[in-house]
Amino acid sequence: MVAGVAEETKTAAPLEGAAAGTPAIKTVELTKRFGRTVALAGLTMTVPRGEVFGFLGPNGAGKTTAVKLLLGLLKPTSGSASLLGRPIGHLQTRRRIGYLPELFRYQSWLTAREVLALHCELAPLPRSSWKDEIGSAMETVGLAARANDRVGTFSKGMQQRLGLGAALLGEPELVFLDEPTSALDPVGRHDVREIIRGLASRGTAVFLNSHLLSEVEQVCDRVAVVDHGRVIAAGTMEELLRGTVVKVRVTGLTPADRNNLSGFGALDDEGDQLTFTNLEASRVPDLVSASCHRCSSSRG
Ligand SMILES: Nc1ncnc2c1ncn2[C@@H]1O[C@H](COP(=O)(O)OP(=O)(O)O)[C@@H](O)[C@H]1O
Ligand SMILES: [Mg+2]
Repeated sequence: MVAGVAEETKTAAPLEGAAAGTPAIKTVELTKRFGRTVALAGLTMTVPRGEVFGFLGPNGAGKTTAVKLLLGLLKPTSGSASLLGRPIGHLQTRRRIGYLPELFRYQSWLTAREVLALHCELAPLPRSSWKDEIGSAMETVGLAARANDRVGTFSKGMQQRLGLGAALLGEPELVFLDEPTSALDPVGRHDVREIIRGLASRGTAVFLNSHLLSEVEQVCDRVAVVDHGRVIAAGTMEELLRGTVVKVRVTGLTPADRNNLSGFGALDDEGDQLTFTNLEASRVPDLVSASCHRCSSSRG
């Protein structure tokens, strides 16, 4: 399935200067299985530079798996992907990427400032820049007044803000946020939206995992809706809300029948289950009638 519209660009750019023209993220049939569980089933998408891209789906849909594959924390079963024009897992690319994990936990005995210093060291950022980087990240996530307090004294929401601060260090070109507001109150959620907008306005691409429609609809340029490891709809929020996603379960279709039904719009074909995206609600009766006709004619 294709969840992107950007131009094809070359992957595996030479080491120096991964061209600004390359997309922030590009995946081709990226797949991950855990035993018999298909966590991600052939994800093909492109996220251009500077775009805020929402990956929306229920728990267990495959969102965290997608992010971990892209970050090189999991090995794909098949398929490929590139970040900032280079294949995933590239060390120099990692330095230009920020990541707020879904399950964050920071050393309780360190102060917030020390946690960020540790991340500066791991990045690694030049030591001369640490003070400014840390000060600016603290300011952005609203923790400046607590910079010298130990993490052990922080609420979960404050720890999540700290994690977001760590993801912002070094002005990354691409930031992955996995359920970034899970521990935050409405004010915190609003703040995170502002931070994401700020990142986008300076050209940073953001990949936002969320199970909350409200979280993605207000901030994302484009959204892919994922369920059971498959993208079932993709587009701008406006396109998604305008169209209707219709799933039809129908047996006995020939390839020619499927072809005919594809006239009803973008079709994701999973055997018996056909998913139509952006289908006008008024066309649903025609679709059902056409599906039934195809079945009876293919049986007859
Ligand atoms: N390490 C793992 N071992 C086995 N199954 C896993 C593992 N990680 C994720 N899964 C399974 O993969 C599917 C997708 O999980 P995940 O990517 O965490 O979903 P989401 O982030 O959308 O909630 C789920 O069925 C989950 O149980
Ligand atoms: Mg998850």
